[in-house]
Amino acid sequence: MEELRHKYIAAIAAAADEVAIESLRVQAVGKKGEISLRMRELGKMSPEERQTAGPALNALKDEINSALAARKASLADVALEERLRAEWLDVTLPGRPVRRGTVHPVSQVTDEVTAIFADMGFAVAEGPQIETDWHNFDALNIPGHHPARAEMDTFYLARPQGANRPPHVLRTHTSPVQIRSMLSEGAPLRIICPGRVYRSDYDQTHTPMFHQVEGLALDRDITMANLKWVLEEFFSAYFGTKVKTRFRASHFPFTEPSAEVDIQCSWQGGTVKVGEGDDWLEVLGSGMVHPKVLAAGNIDPNEWQGFAFGMGIDRIAMLKYGIPDLRAFFDSDLRWLRHYGFAALDVPTVHGGLSK
Ligand code: DAH
Repeated sequence: MEELRHKYIAAIAAAADEVAIESLRVQAVGKKGEISLRMRELGKMSPEERQTAGPALNALKDEINSALAARKASLADVALEERLRAEWLDVTLPGRPVRRGTVHPVSQVTDEVTAIFADMGFAVAEGPQIETDWHNFDALNIPGHHPARAEMDTFYLARPQGANRPPHVLRTHTSPVQIRSMLSEGAPLRIICPGRVYRSDYDQTHTPMFHQVEGLALDRDITMANLKWVLEEFFSAYFGTKVKTRFRASHFPFTEPSAEVDIQCSWQGGTVKVGEGDDWLEVLGSGMVHPKVLAAGNIDPNEWQGFAFGMGIDRIAMLKYGIPDLRAFFDSDLRWLRHYGFAALDVPTVHGGLSK
């Protein structure tokens, strides 16, 4: 018995892990373990022998069981110590900086414009930036010889050898999206089309790529009065103050009648303020969609009519956020982007408030 005791107590003390402990348990006190077999032999003993051997075996079994439990607990302690040492972490260290970009004013203003027009029931439509000559010009009632083509400083794309169609163009305005939307959606229709446009022009207020937003509303009885209301509603929401508009008779091939729209502003102190004073600033072209344009969009001009407008996004961004030079918009200068950019979470909504 003393031998057994020695053997198991020493083995348990030397067990390196739980697997070893479990196998010792089976060997010693499991159903067919050495101690258990000895206990089975008690029946063959004389009562006197049994009286000393029985309690001794029980005591040995208890001793081995508690040695097993103690070894198990001490191995777990060692493992925990080891983990605590390995996974040590200095929570007082300063965090690593997360470098966040900013939202470009053009993106922000596009979102603002979209939120305001969406609130008035306008959906967003898009078209390609490489456009066919037909969508960019002919369908908008600008025929080949029309002076508007020359005025637009168009970028033309190279044609494959042997092609005898007119060259494709980088769209000079967002107006071709009117045609594409009429052809795909039909009437009635209420859309805005924000996006990039291209003209060969470069100075403080012109860049070869800039942004416009087109508007188009078609129904059976839409008039210039609806146009005026929608635009005044838009400008007041956008600038966050009541803004008066002035409609000046103008000419565009794709509208009849046509109007250029000015917004009220003041030039007090050398900076422009929208919605006060008695100066005027031109911000967009507009009018009633020309019957020929409706027809090019496969819409019956005897049944449907509506208004359209086109506005420079960069320009209204400069006006609202006091940005002086258009060229800086597209220089990717980080200092400029950090100064004029918006936080990613500053998502403009009409009811939650537009950007300040
Ligand atoms: N497409 C014109 C331009 O880029 C702007 C314009 C004027 C758009 C009148 C319109 C409109 O839809 O009705 O200069």
